[in-house]
Amino acid sequence: MEKLVIEGGIPLQGDVKVSGAKNAALPLMAATLLCAGKHILRNVPDLRDTRTLARLLENLGAVVSRDGDVLTIDTTVLHHGEASYELVKTMRASVLVLGPLVARLGKTRVSLPGGCAIGERPVNFHIDGLRELGAVCAIKEGYIEAEAKKLYGNTIYFDIPSVTATENLLMAASLAKGTTVLKNAAKEPEIGNLVDMLNGMGAKISGRGTDVLTVEGVDSLHPADCSIIPDRIEAGTYLLAIAATGGAGRVTHCCPGDLPSLVEKLRHAGLEIIEEADALAVSWKDGTRNLSRVDIKTAPFPGYPTDLQAQFMALMTLCSGQSAVHETIFENRFMHVAELRRMGAKITVDGRLAIVSGLGMNGLKGAPVMATDLRASSSLVIAGLAASGRTDISRIYHLERGYEDLVGKLTGLGARVWKEQE
Ligand code: EPU
Repeated sequence: MEKLVIEGGIPLQGDVKVSGAKNAALPLMAATLLCAGKHILRNVPDLRDTRTLARLLENLGAVVSRDGDVLTIDTTVLHHGEASYELVKTMRASVLVLGPLVARLGKTRVSLPGGCAIGERPVNFHIDGLRELGAVCAIKEGYIEAEAKKLYGNTIYFDIPSVTATENLLMAASLAKGTTVLKNAAKEPEIGNLVDMLNGMGAKISGRGTDVLTVEGVDSLHPADCSIIPDRIEAGTYLLAIAATGGAGRVTHCCPGDLPSLVEKLRHAGLEIIEEADALAVSWKDGTRNLSRVDIKTAPFPGYPTDLQAQFMALMTLCSGQSAVHETIFENRFMHVAELRRMGAKITVDGRLAIVSGLGMNGLKGAPVMATDLRASSSLVIAGLAASGRTDISRIYHLERGYEDLVGKLTGLGARVWKEQE
């Protein structure tokens, strides 16, 4: 197994280019199952998770090839409609094939994803939603079995906005007979990307960007040619890394409008953030290198993203005064706290609330730490870059799930970082 070694304390400087969004690439890749033919997806990040989903599609019979960041997915022939436990257990987002497979094949069997490092993460909204569209669903031997000769439009209300449930049902409803209305739907930018792809394939979806999505079912769709939006979580991670090291730089090829809450929180902390058309620049006001305390509360888009909570907490350890993190989306998303403490951070946790007593800039010390999930790991990277001395982060396969060329991009910003065998 590999570990990441960081010699911290170097202010990051320069430009870093953002890749395509993991959480947009996954649903868009799943959507290629909706109709036979050769689909083209552009700006697809080369990540462990996109490779896992490509393997799942290939296992179903699709032919997947990559040329740079362009993925061609030929779904002309599907041999079966089963997503096995072996493939789903390594990536929960595999459940995204459920809606497209039942819509296209009339029958599917998808392994039930288990709990994960950040919470229980049930999939009841996905299953209940398909039932509302007329599918017969059962859980048998650890698999979700769904069957429907035809899906029929209906009104579906989500108790909580769910990103992948909204995506699964948008895909399924595109081929249903009649009109489906998704209420209290998630509004994350990745859903807008999926709506654009589906409409480009001939679907009729309105309400993009709002929490009410209306899908007029169509009889057939045609193959897609669509581009993946920039990864807002990757963009936010680099902004936070530059800020935490006292550096200054630009995160390019991103959509500043997809990070409204992060931009405001960074400004509250005292940073200068300039929004360009497709870049965000971070620097320090009047040359000072002090961060003020700032609180965050995670919430569905446009609220503060849970996927940037751990990374912001790393920044809070360097602020002056006490900052609070309220995690409202997942019940167990503080796994990074114990590891940040190993680097000297002062954090107390009470349920979903964490209180961080800031150490001031340069307060963290390098230490051996362990990555526990994707975003927790990136928080340790930020802490390691800001800390004095050496930080060894083990289990970096978590990072490889969601950050394309992390070492290359950080090196480009001047960081001293490399991989080593454990
Ligand atoms: N929920 C249910 N029942 C369901 C589905 C969700 O109760 O059937 C609850 C969840 O337990 C959670 C809330 O609804 O409390 C919202 O979860 P959501 O369903 O939106 O999460 P997700 O779709 O499983 C996606 C991202 C996550 C991101 C969340 C929240 C993808 C592939 N994954 O997950 O990304 O944290 O939305 O924004 O889009 C990551 O990239 O590191 C990551 C975990």
